[in-house]
Amino acid sequence: MAPRPPLARPGLAAPTLRGPFDPGGQPDLGPDKHLHLSLFAWNVSNGLSASKVVLDDPESRQNAWQWKNSEPLLRLLDGSGMDSALQYGMWIGYGGEVEWNDHHYDWATAGAITAAVTQRIGIFQTIHIGYNISPMFIAKQTASVNHVSGGRSGVNIVAGQNAVDYAQFGMEGPPPQDIRYAIADEMTTALKLLWTSDEPVDFEGEYFQMYGAQISPRAISSPRPVLVNAAASTIGLDYATRQCDALFVTAHGESWAHKAQRIHEMAAEHNRKVRVAAMCYVVMDDDQSKVDDLVEQMRQRIDREALENWLTMSGHIMASEPDGADLVDKGLYGLDRQSSGAAADPYLGLGKEGYEELGMGMGAYQLFGTYEKVADELIALYNDGVGQFALCFLDPMKGVQQMKERVIPILQSKGYNELATSL
Ligand SMILES: Cc1cc2nc3c(=O)[nH]c(=O)nc-3n(C[C@H](O)[C@H](O)[C@H](O)COP(=O)(O)O)c2cc1C
Repeated sequence: MAPRPPLARPGLAAPTLRGPFDPGGQPDLGPDKHLHLSLFAWNVSNGLSASKVVLDDPESRQNAWQWKNSEPLLRLLDGSGMDSALQYGMWIGYGGEVEWNDHHYDWATAGAITAAVTQRIGIFQTIHIGYNISPMFIAKQTASVNHVSGGRSGVNIVAGQNAVDYAQFGMEGPPPQDIRYAIADEMTTALKLLWTSDEPVDFEGEYFQMYGAQISPRAISSPRPVLVNAAASTIGLDYATRQCDALFVTAHGESWAHKAQRIHEMAAEHNRKVRVAAMCYVVMDDDQSKVDDLVEQMRQRIDREALENWLTMSGHIMASEPDGADLVDKGLYGLDRQSSGAAADPYLGLGKEGYEELGMGMGAYQLFGTYEKVADELIALYNDGVGQFALCFLDPMKGVQQMKERVIPILQSKGYNELATSL
């Protein structure tokens, strides 16, 4: 450990370096019978769509993230009855003909611009903890967005595992799960301290050190900004249920009811409550046959090259270690793909269903159908213990409009989402 810098202000010693740590308690997670509806991945090109149908209307499908398009999108979202804008955290994309996720606004800029053009919705900034970025900088920037937005912002903490991104930051990575989540744990404790402390603090962690550190303005959310995490492994879920408020997950290999129950039980062991958030890809219309036609076109035109790049570069992003056992076939991810032969398989080694699920929405839960069917499925997931829905659309502007005009009125007619919330 480096010696205390001589000109550091005196600081209160951090009461703990690892969680659970909830100074002032946990934030309120919203009313009952409310499905928290987020627009996900608005800040990256193509969102979750790796299908070449994006090329048929690039402006609204590929380039919705560009400010000339995302400014009106965020304004529409603000008055739509949906609850928040959730960023995708990303430093590299996956190419292919569609240039999947190649272009994006960073978490800091995306947070600030969302705060400036909206009045109501929640704003989730997605940050990575592994790239040697100091908690002081992240706390300062996120507290400023929280202040500008009148306390509407929260933070989605990602223990990223993209080797190409580690290399961009000059590091070899990713570290093993236990280290990634130990770093996340320290980062989270440090952020909570800086957001809430009215005194300078000293924090002498294994991964982060701060001496006499203090920010002003502090976050104005009470008691602090809502924290989201997107983990899949048991170690990751353990960290998230100890330190975060919403867990952004997929339910591969288990039912949503089972996954949600498992997560709620893990949180209860720490006397905490969390909201389970499901990533969903939505294609909807009045007419089921129109939905079926579009879904079929998307399936037929999956950008194989982009998907192959994603599997090689990003690794087992959805579930590195499902249900406590290391069941993931390593030959499907990372550099091992080259020797396993998976890249030569017509479905990239994933099977037809897996290939289509990833190509259609990065493994998101598929909500394909009429407005009534989509609303009913959302309610069914809510009744299974899911409280938040990170929705992604082929055309985000159209998707948010459909939520506003068609789906939310159905939810309301069934006694849900009577009042819009923010976080
Ligand atoms: C629903 C969901 C959303 C995710 N979003 C991101 C993201 O925005 N940026 C990112 O780098 N990783 C993202 N990930 C990857 C996870 O943070 C995580 O690293 C991955 O699921 C592997 O799980 P593990 O970290 O518990 O091993 C996401 C994962 C899931 C399941």
